[in-house]
Amino acid sequence: MAILPIRTFGDPVLRMNTALVTDIDDGVRKLVADMIETMYDAPGVGLAATQIGVSRRVCVFDANDGNGAQVLINGRIVETDGELVYDEGCLSVPGYWWEITRPEFARARGLDLEGNEVEYSGTGLMGRVLQHELDHLDGTLLIERLEPAVRKQALRELRNQALGLVDLGE
Ligand code: NI
Repeated sequence: MAILPIRTFGDPVLRMNTALVTDIDDGVRKLVADMIETMYDAPGVGLAATQIGVSRRVCVFDANDGNGAQVLINGRIVETDGELVYDEGCLSVPGYWWEITRPEFARARGLDLEGNEVEYSGTGLMGRVLQHELDHLDGTLLIERLEPAVRKQALRELRNQALGLVDLGE
């Protein structure tokens, strides 16, 4: 297993749509093992393959429910319900947290490492991490989930930070 560098805001791979996994082979098993190790090392509650530069539809997460690290291959959200404002961050946008509104409940389906159909669902952290990680695999960062005015300010700060500029405001 290996701890891999996490790609951050501005890296084009984070904007890419991902390819479905057609064969769960040794390469995919190694990818998942590395992703779990990288997630816990960060530390984070979830990690999508794009965050380590791999454009495949794979994510891992630990929703702090006592079940440890879970794997979702070819995952998709199949049901959402309600609405919840939740303080949300991302390992690819380090140092930033925003209150983000998303559905409170989410259900996702996909495959486990053995290729069996698997389903995860919940509110709270589980609902949030499922939506956040599957967003990543569609090339969507949490910044896209901000209200337009907040998003504009966030993008300005992030671009300035990436360029090493000081934000003097408007
Ligand atoms: Ni993230």
